[in-house]
Amino acid sequence: MKKYLIALLSVVVLFTSCNRDRSKPNIQYMPDMYVAVPYEPYGINPKMPDSLASLVPPSGAVARGHSVMDYPFTSEGYNQALAEFKNPLPTTDENLANGKKMYDIYCAVCHGENGDGQGVLVKNGKFLGVPNYKDRAITEGSIYYVIYYGRNMMGSHAGQLTEKERWQVVQYVQKLRNGLLPAASTDANEVK
Ligand code: HEC
Repeated sequence: MKKYLIALLSVVVLFTSCNRDRSKPNIQYMPDMYVAVPYEPYGINPKMPDSLASLVPPSGAVARGHSVMDYPFTSEGYNQALAEFKNPLPTTDENLANGKKMYDIYCAVCHGENGDGQGVLVKNGKFLGVPNYKDRAITEGSIYYVIYYGRNMMGSHAGQLTEKERWQVVQYVQKLRNGLLPAASTDANEVK
């Protein structure tokens, strides 16, 4: 008898537990689990001056793995970086190898694998005015500066490379500029 009673009760619970009336919200037993108590990341926060939840980092905040760029984006800043900004990384095979890896991904399309300014985009007439590194009086500091801010038609690559990777690329560009690598291969990669 008890068994049948439990079975009957289960069936009743089963059929009454679903709320088919969609016009009324279901009962929330623990509303805190449905409605967030803190402000949502993209929500409205009336206490903030711009009404946004605190997405904007406080002024002067530096992202992890990055440090403050000491040289401003002005011609004086460029000249100063050119003259005195030094690579903190030692020249090692490992740094050069990763510099090459990053260079081949981000720079070679324009600057060419050998730094002669004949990357695939230039050969196909998609991008012009890319210099041969050997024709520019550049230093480790200015190369870093240009990776960080870009220069004229060249955009900034600060977003693609971490600080360490930028310095590794700088090392590799210097190596290319000093002509320590074999001459450019002649087979142009055709881009249709
Ligand atoms: C979309 C094409 C393009 C890409 C990609 C590119 N560059 Fe450039 N780069 C240029 C052009 C164009 C110039 C010439 C800018 C000028 O001086 O007017 C230039 C100039 C330079 C210079 C010389 C600037 C100076 O101070 O005279 C350096 C160094 C340089 N690029 C490094 C890099 C490195 C390193 C990367 C990869 C992280 C890179 N570039 C990616 C197009 C590119």
